[in-house]
Amino acid sequence: MNPSRYFALIPAAGIGARLGADVPKQYMPLAGQPMLAHVLTTFAAASVISHVFVVVSADDGYIGELMAAAPHLQGRVSVLFDGGPSRRESVLNGLQAIRPLVGDDDWMLVHDAARPGLTAGLIEHLIETLQDDPVGGLLALPVVDTLKRSDRNARVEQTVERTALWAAQTPQMFRYSLLLRALTLAEAVTDEAGAVELLGLQPRLVEGSPRNFKVTLPHDVALAEMFLKEKS
Ligand code: CTP
Ligand code: MG
Repeated sequence: MNPSRYFALIPAAGIGARLGADVPKQYMPLAGQPMLAHVLTTFAAASVISHVFVVVSADDGYIGELMAAAPHLQGRVSVLFDGGPSRRESVLNGLQAIRPLVGDDDWMLVHDAARPGLTAGLIEHLIETLQDDPVGGLLALPVVDTLKRSDRNARVEQTVERTALWAAQTPQMFRYSLLLRALTLAEAVTDEAGAVELLGLQPRLVEGSPRNFKVTLPHDVALAEMFLKEKS
């Protein structure tokens, strides 16, 4: 039997409404390159990853230029114009599109285009921890702040016990057939782990890094650039 392979699947079909830039946020320049180029370069350079798939929207007008300007991605990255109206649907469409190319037991590492701070070390750490896991799992960070639940008037209703709480990141790593089944059945989930949990399984939490945060709001841009400049 062939050993399982590792594939990256990058959903990049959003519009970045909360960031509100002139271009969809995955194409926003950060430290001299589009946000998505940082992510694709990190995965393409990781020898453990067999191939990288990026899911963009059917009318994406930016990916062609990005790929043309990045010869190091040729042959390592395939573009799928299969984005859907939600992140879940973009990932699901991507999984269906690559069906002939991957095995049921191959691992899929699903990673947000909006987390450009991912490093080779974090990919290795995730894979080393999960390669023999029966379920799979995700990078996540233990919550350090004291948490408050508010009422409608922004008054504290309750302090929430933070022990055992983690903030989910990506990559989220599950075997192809399990992930396809989970995302097909789940409708209102915001990450892959959420879909797998609905099958009654318990994904493993693997400690990530603050630098792998999701660029979401305008004030995140300066912090992302700081981390990206530190890397090079
Ligand atoms: N994504 C996607 N397809 C969608 C929506 C989101 O592939 N229909 C991707 C985004 O491109 C991003 C990742 O999912 O890489 C995480 O989503 P998020 O940070 O919410 O990005 P956006 O949806 O683009 O941002 P916003 O919610 O502010 O509009
Ligand atoms: Mg979104």
